[in-house]
Amino acid sequence: MSPDNATEAATACSLQEGRTLTAHVDLGQLARNLAGLRRVSRELGLLAVVKADAYGHGAVPVARALESAGIEGFCVATLPEALDLRRGGILSPILVLGSIRPESLPVASANHLDLTVVSADHLLELAPLVPEHPVGLHLKLDTGMGRSGILLDDLGACLDGIRALQPRIRGVMGHFSASEAPDARCAHLQRKRFQGALAQLRDAGIAVPMAHHANSAGCLRGFVEGDTHARCGIALYGLSEVEEAREAGLKPILELTAEVMRAVRIPAGSTVGYGSTYVAPHPVKLVTLNCGYADGYPRALSNRAQAGFKGRTYPVVGQVSMDMLTVVLPEAISIRPGDRMTLLSRNPEDPHSVQATARLLSTIPYEVTCALNRRVLRDPT
Ligand SMILES: Cc1ncc(COP(=O)(O)O)c(C=O)c1O
Repeated sequence: MSPDNATEAATACSLQEGRTLTAHVDLGQLARNLAGLRRVSRELGLLAVVKADAYGHGAVPVARALESAGIEGFCVATLPEALDLRRGGILSPILVLGSIRPESLPVASANHLDLTVVSADHLLELAPLVPEHPVGLHLKLDTGMGRSGILLDDLGACLDGIRALQPRIRGVMGHFSASEAPDARCAHLQRKRFQGALAQLRDAGIAVPMAHHANSAGCLRGFVEGDTHARCGIALYGLSEVEEAREAGLKPILELTAEVMRAVRIPAGSTVGYGSTYVAPHPVKLVTLNCGYADGYPRALSNRAQAGFKGRTYPVVGQVSMDMLTVVLPEAISIRPGDRMTLLSRNPEDPHSVQATARLLSTIPYEVTCALNRRVLRDPT
């Protein structure tokens, strides 16, 4: 086989392999989720949070769809995530939420990225380099989240340094710690602090073109008074669990399906998987799927989760292993290699929805989709 043929065959082969486990991402519903969010957020500009590969949904196709639908900008966590978007043709403003080292300013500037100032020390580090390597800066204020941002007690001491950086100061931001909590006292307190800090900056003659404190839940619940923008992730992916998300018609956009690699009848007493944690109580149809914890399907779902086939669900049995998992169905069900089963459903009511799976794992939907890694083929449609 010539090297060219070998490369072609290898590409075809890897695509073939990849197709066995696929995250289908409904970009039409993504655009409808954006429209639903806009109805609620009215005049606010929206920055789509597409860090962590758009929470596992595939950052570039998601960002392209949102850019076509008129989003005002994007947020990512790291410089490589921002550069991936630029390489993917994204031209809209991109804000890097994480802490960027001063030595990365040239590449950030060359790629027209906006950076977050994550502390008073970070401001001091970046300030001398910004005139030579211009970037937009968003000042993060720690209004109560307690993990990053300039402490409000330190803001007064930073005012001269901030004023000197104008007009590079594009925005001022905070982050809610519990915007989805039924008790909104904490959210209101954070907003009050944010508004106080904005007034302090304006009194000091510092222009604040953009102010954004809200994430999805803060935006959906209207904790945005006086802000110009909101940074929304989970609502766009249709996985926000606040009541207002349902009222706005937001729906999940990701479905995970896997191809059946083996379907066999096993007699009563047969054991399945590492540790033989499942013993067939009677003859059953045993199906093996090419999906395991190395793909981001947690081992903690062993003997607990369900998988869907033709409108019904069936139990995932035995230990989920690195690359495979097993499901049992009644003997009479006709299922064969090449058929597909659904491991994560888009219907929130299903026992194998992202939300139900998160509950099984005592976690949040964010963690379930973020876990899906690069072995999982993304099929944006
Ligand atoms: C700083 C910041 N802003 C906004 C968001 C978006 O949050 P959500 O997905 O809840 O809208 C995140 C997500 O983790 C974040 O870290």
